[in-house]
Amino acid sequence: MTIILGIESSCDETGVGIVRLGSDGSVELLADEVASSVEQHARFGGVVPEVASRAHLEAMVPTMRRAFDVAGLRLSDVDAIAVTCGPGLAGALLVGVSAAKAYALSLGVPLYGVNHLAGHVAADTLEHGALPAPTLALLVSGGHSQLLRVDDVAGQITEIGSTIDDAAGEAYDKVARVLGLPYPGGPPIDQAARRGNPKAIAFPRGLTGPRDAKYDFSFSGLKTAVARWVEANETEGIPVDDVAASFQEAVADVLTAKAVRAATDLGITTLVISGGVAANSRLKELAADRCTAAGITLRVPRPRLCTDNGAMIAALGAHLVAAGVKPSSLDLPTNPAL
Ligand code: KG4
Ligand code: ZN
Repeated sequence: MTIILGIESSCDETGVGIVRLGSDGSVELLADEVASSVEQHARFGGVVPEVASRAHLEAMVPTMRRAFDVAGLRLSDVDAIAVTCGPGLAGALLVGVSAAKAYALSLGVPLYGVNHLAGHVAADTLEHGALPAPTLALLVSGGHSQLLRVDDVAGQITEIGSTIDDAAGEAYDKVARVLGLPYPGGPPIDQAARRGNPKAIAFPRGLTGPRDAKYDFSFSGLKTAVARWVEANETEGIPVDDVAASFQEAVADVLTAKAVRAATDLGITTLVISGGVAANSRLKELAADRCTAAGITLRVPRPRLCTDNGAMIAALGAHLVAAGVKPSSLDLPTNPAL
């Protein structure tokens, strides 16, 4: 029995997770505490790196204390530590990595620097168990939009597509601003869209032409199209619900069409969707319909595990320990562009 501590600080969430790795390779979630600085960024309409770093610094130790209280464990119970070393904001990553090194050194336990994106994939194993090999992962958040082929979450992950401009969540946040909705834009747009008509406005589907990269995404043109439409129709009053629904339909359509196409082309029969945008109601609905039609098993972890958290980092750490992967050295660098 092994206790793994996971630390996440790549963006605006300070996450501390604790899991137990069983001798059979099972991973049990014991604690998942998150402190978010999202409200401090709201008036800027996006994450301010310096503000995020300071918030991590203030939240790290209290979040750690809460996690150990919830798990009913002490620091001395920890057998290994996993920490996000990239990708993410340089100053923000540095806080988590420095904390992890200090704990690893003082406890004399191995340290594993892990990739945040692999962590998002590993989150699903906390809810649905081991991933079949291969699995296709669609990662959609404020910072990333990627299609990944996962042969082994502990090592073999290949990017097969990504956004060439904005991330899906970033498009949600920017469109929300145009519509006068609060930050982060995903939840209010999702709500407004439920009252609107998704066919009201035909917004463009980026990179879906015959000569476009099959598995890459582009959301910048869509965001601009929404802004132009709003500008052109401002005098008549903007039907916010219809614009939100039509925008949301375009995002869900492209994401699910490309994911299902990639899975079908590669002969992969399991699709995992993770990241903050995986909380989106229309994305989940359309993905479920299209996966059923294509004979693909869809796995979406609960929203709490989709957004940034330390539990997914602890889970990934557990998979690395179970696979016998060599730990990182104590001079582990952060890598914002990992
Ligand atoms: O994974 P996450 O918490 O942080 C990043 O790593 O970025 O994702 C945050 C993003 C934000 O852009 C937010 O607007 C979006 O996820 N989001 C949603 C929904 N809930 C959060 N987007 C669409 N629909 C939602 N229900
Ligand atoms: Zn993330």
